[in-house]
Amino acid sequence: MTMLDVAADVIQTPAQTSAPLDVAKVRAEFPILKETVYGRPLVYLDSAASAQKPRTVIEAVSRAYETSYSNVHRGAHRLSQLATDAFEDARETVARFVNAESADEIVFTRNATEALNLVAASYGRTFLTRGDEIVLTEMEHHANIVPWQLLRDEIGVVLRVVPIDDDGVLRLEALADLIGPRTRLVAITHCSNVLGTVTPLKEIVALAHGHGVPVVVDGSQGIVHAGVDVRDLDVDFYAFTGHKLYGPSGIGVLYGKRAWLERMPPYQGGGEMIDHVSFAETTFKAPPHRFEAGTPPIVQAIGLAAAVRYVSALGMEAIRAHEQALLAQATEALAGMGDVRIFGRAPGKAAIISFLVGSLHPYDVAAVLDRAGIAVRVGQHCAEPLMGRLGVDGTVRASFALYNDGTDVEALVEGIHKAKRMLGG
Ligand SMILES: Cc1ncc(COP(=O)(O)O)c(C=O)c1O
Repeated sequence: MTMLDVAADVIQTPAQTSAPLDVAKVRAEFPILKETVYGRPLVYLDSAASAQKPRTVIEAVSRAYETSYSNVHRGAHRLSQLATDAFEDARETVARFVNAESADEIVFTRNATEALNLVAASYGRTFLTRGDEIVLTEMEHHANIVPWQLLRDEIGVVLRVVPIDDDGVLRLEALADLIGPRTRLVAITHCSNVLGTVTPLKEIVALAHGHGVPVVVDGSQGIVHAGVDVRDLDVDFYAFTGHKLYGPSGIGVLYGKRAWLERMPPYQGGGEMIDHVSFAETTFKAPPHRFEAGTPPIVQAIGLAAAVRYVSALGMEAIRAHEQALLAQATEALAGMGDVRIFGRAPGKAAIISFLVGSLHPYDVAAVLDRAGIAVRVGQHCAEPLMGRLGVDGTVRASFALYNDGTDVEALVEGIHKAKRMLGG
């Protein structure tokens, strides 16, 4: 069975609940895909950095500005009511999407980075003290490393790092060994933005909870490729970012179990998050508003809700199957070139391929691809410690989304051949 057969098998699996993706129809819904780059059709393989937006999201954002825009939670006037309703409806939509128990468990932030900083600052300063340990992994994005380092510098917590193996698989037995009497938090990615590795969250949560340790998940990539059920996974916190999920930039989400959020103090202070203010004392609103100081990303939340409705209508399983087929096609083609080194071979990985071509510099390869209209990411991918583990300075990364098709993979392969011809690799 070739990898393509495996992919086809995945697509036809009877357990699949939604219809296979009609990729031509999907592509027609993304206006930017009609654009050309240097006179060539755009081949967008950088969705792990930020995804393109379907018309329904663009229209939801325009409509909000054109028909019902105002600040929220403030004015007594009609527009303010409409904007507040739409904003709070967006919270309900996101809550249903991740299967939270209540919309009160959904905090809107600027992005995943801010959501993780919120947990580090609020949960960290409240529940952790000097010598307490936080368990991370070797494949974290900087967004799930640096906030914990800031906390370390502030209060003296200790960071423990779980290694990965050479295929990019998390070493679960090492994670089990690292959880000890001083462990107070496991902070882990759902899916590596470099390797595509999907972490076994259910097992990890069971392991951590067995020691009374809560788990915060960086879901920035994981939610895009497979969705999430926070209650099924029983995670304590789950952070993600709207712009990778086909929504606008400037909006992120922190899901937090109500029991935690209620015990956590505000992260930032200002308007919107208070009950009463006097110069002597201030009281705060209940979560989630306690964590949303100042004017929130109103229209961005409305756009994110449109994106969530869009992917939900297509079906996360159909999206996953489609991306897996592209991953199989691309992996087989790149591996077949002989001198392409792929980083990340974890079973069940998401549709992200990091690679190097022979001895060619990744920036040179990316530059040739760019001139061919192919957008890829190159560099350290905000995962410098992981680059150290892989023993490289950087890689080229192609990431696949619901709007990519087989011709995009063919263009990538042709582009790499061209880079080899031009650069002598
Ligand atoms: C795994 C992972 N975590 C966190 C982030 C940070 O996302 P944002 O910059 O939207 O906060 C990214 C974005 O590249 C990511 O890939």
